[in-house]
Amino acid sequence: MSDRDDRNRAATEARHYNPYPSEFLEREFEIYDLLREQLPIARSEVMSNTTLGEAKGGWVLTRYDDGSEVLRDPETFSNQTLAYPVRPWIPQAIDPPMHTSYRRILNPWFAPEAMTKLEPHLEQYANELADKMLEKDEFDFVADYADPFPTVIFCELAGFPADDYPRIMDWKNIIMHGGDGHRRGHDLTCAKARELGHDVDGDDGLTNEAALAARAAAAGEVYQYFQQLLDARRESPQDDLVSKLLTAKYEGERPLTQEEIEDTLFLLFMAGLDTVASALGLMIQDFAQNEVKRKEFIELMDSDDPSQLSQAIEELVRVHSIVLLPRRVTREASFHGAVFQPEDTVMVPTQASNRDPEAFPDPNTLIFDRMPNRHLGFGLGPHRCLGIHLARRELRIALQVFHRKCPNYRLDPNKTANAFGGMKGLASLPLVRT
Ligand code: HEM
Repeated sequence: MSDRDDRNRAATEARHYNPYPSEFLEREFEIYDLLREQLPIARSEVMSNTTLGEAKGGWVLTRYDDGSEVLRDPETFSNQTLAYPVRPWIPQAIDPPMHTSYRRILNPWFAPEAMTKLEPHLEQYANELADKMLEKDEFDFVADYADPFPTVIFCELAGFPADDYPRIMDWKNIIMHGGDGHRRGHDLTCAKARELGHDVDGDDGLTNEAALAARAAAAGEVYQYFQQLLDARRESPQDDLVSKLLTAKYEGERPLTQEEIEDTLFLLFMAGLDTVASALGLMIQDFAQNEVKRKEFIELMDSDDPSQLSQAIEELVRVHSIVLLPRRVTREASFHGAVFQPEDTVMVPTQASNRDPEAFPDPNTLIFDRMPNRHLGFGLGPHRCLGIHLARRELRIALQVFHRKCPNYRLDPNKTANAFGGMKGLASLPLVRT
């Protein structure tokens, strides 16, 4: 095939770029490689920046250097992009300088020392879940382990009662997974839309309008839930994030408003529930099919040098990046030959940046001692992941505990995993112990 054909193919892929449905995942890396080689700053006509959002067009950036440049420049590339179900969430949808003030409040609560103190509890809970899951030889790694582990830990940190886990998961699945191939997210969204009086006929009958209404209703319920919790903590404070937010001071001067607290809790809820679970599912799916790398990883777990295991975790996050990072252009900007207009969306899929061979030689291979490894899996610039120290510990401990108890496993040949796109991950991963 000629260069011209490849370029035409790339232009077609870019025009139709939609990373949200699960079908996209079947060709995800092939598409990103083609774009990076042929059209690294590609114009897309139909791109939306949410699972259910309106398609407005924009740009897809597949090179590591270009993505990094965008993430480092919040003045030109604003974080206020999505259609928020209630209000823009804090701090992720707020630009500096206000963003900096919010991060100053939140950073100490997620600092490395605070997270290290949690480690014995993380170990104990991971062990408990793994023991229960491994009572059977066939199990669902995501439903039985990857989902509850970070979610319950996050609920404890936040101050959400443990008994609320099922409804918290249901809300999260409607808000985040109404239209991305997540089966339970889809079913719950259909049920909620019907409850609201929308005519949802069969599995394919969910319109965007009905899904958006269901999402807004679920978000409304989450906000109400926060309001009740805040009232309870005002009466009797505990050692949790809800109580900490009630006493926090913006710029050391004024208390946060009720709305600011709710919008912060909402973002923490979205970021804290899904991310580690998604990454864990993808990592184990890969290990289930790649015995050599799995064994290599298990050997590193017993290494005398703990930094080797930490490096391996970073490499797993690079290869199994889950986050798409959309930005809104604030002013006309020339960008390496392209001209961005105000209000354009620029999408940085970390899945593409992190497999750019210019930045990561042999990018599709897990190289556990890769150095340097400045991947974008946790973002870059002012919005770099607040939960990074928690996430790293959860990933390490969850993988260690599972592999100590179950070093040999494979994909269940009689069942299929349920993958979802966008902020991608797995809703289920059936495995068999071998
Ligand atoms: C494997 C797990 C995780 C991954 C891959 C991940 C990835 C990311 C990425 C890429 C960003 C940047 C967003 C942007 O630039 O717009 C981000 C931001 C954020 N993450 Fe994480 N995250 C993970 C776990 C967590 C956890 C466990 C929390 C916990 C509470 C968390 C809280 C946040 C928050 C609050 C932000 C917004 C920061 C800001 O805008 O300043 N993340 N994360």
